Amino acid sequence: MPQADPAATLLSWYDTHARDLPWRVPPQDRLAGVRPDPYRVWLSEVMLQQTTVAAVKDYFHRFTRRWPTVEALAGAEDADVMAEWAGLGYYARARNLLKCARAVTRDHGGRFPEDHVALLGLPGIGPYTAAAIAAIAFDHPETVLDGNVERVMARLHDIHDPLPGAKETLRARAAELTPRERPGDHAQAVMDLGATICTPRAPACGICPWRDPCLARARGTAAILPRKTPK
Ligand code: ADE
Repeated sequence: MPQADPAATLLSWYDTHARDLPWRVPPQDRLAGVRPDPYRVWLSEVMLQQTTVAAVKDYFHRFTRRWPTVEALAGAEDADVMAEWAGLGYYARARNLLKCARAVTRDHGGRFPEDHVALLGLPGIGPYTAAAIAAIAFDHPETVLDGNVERVMARLHDIHDPLPGAKETLRARAAELTPRERPGDHAQAVMDLGATICTPRAPACGICPWRDPCLARARGTAAILPRKTPK
């Protein structure tokens, strides 16, 4: 029997197993075509840059309750934003957050640009965050590569070259898998797979939607991947 397309298998898994996160559109709305709010996608991605999902949730709720739009945030007092950020750490993120909200409001009429290059021109948005926003908010077929995605790719393809050297190989593998349909959901599905099933320790291979195509599972190498060059 031919192998099902792994990206299609992953999307069906995501439709029933996606984590319910406050910056996401609920499944029934998502399937009806409702798009996420780019402001909420951007805010969540900046908060998630060096912080776990569990820690980010409450901050995300407080920020969006107080400043529901990018224009509202752009009009905030610096000290109020810094005070709401207190505890999340890496305070340059909060300063850039305000600069970015003001730039989007002033230079882009309050709408986040869709294009990767334009996004990269905004304060606090680097290559990872630009790709994540373009994919998740605008459904551009961009490859979103974070630590979770690297681990999933290393295992799916049984890649033993160590990180960080293997990063571009892993990125190329992730790019090949990115579908034209629903690339934003695909990006979040790979993240969810890495966070809930393809975990660093004791991955739950038995219930993984990629248990059939996964080479590391077939060869028993999942637990030692990805390899890392000793510091
Ligand atoms: N980590 C970074 N971005 C994320 C997202 N959109 N969903 C879940 N985890 C993430």
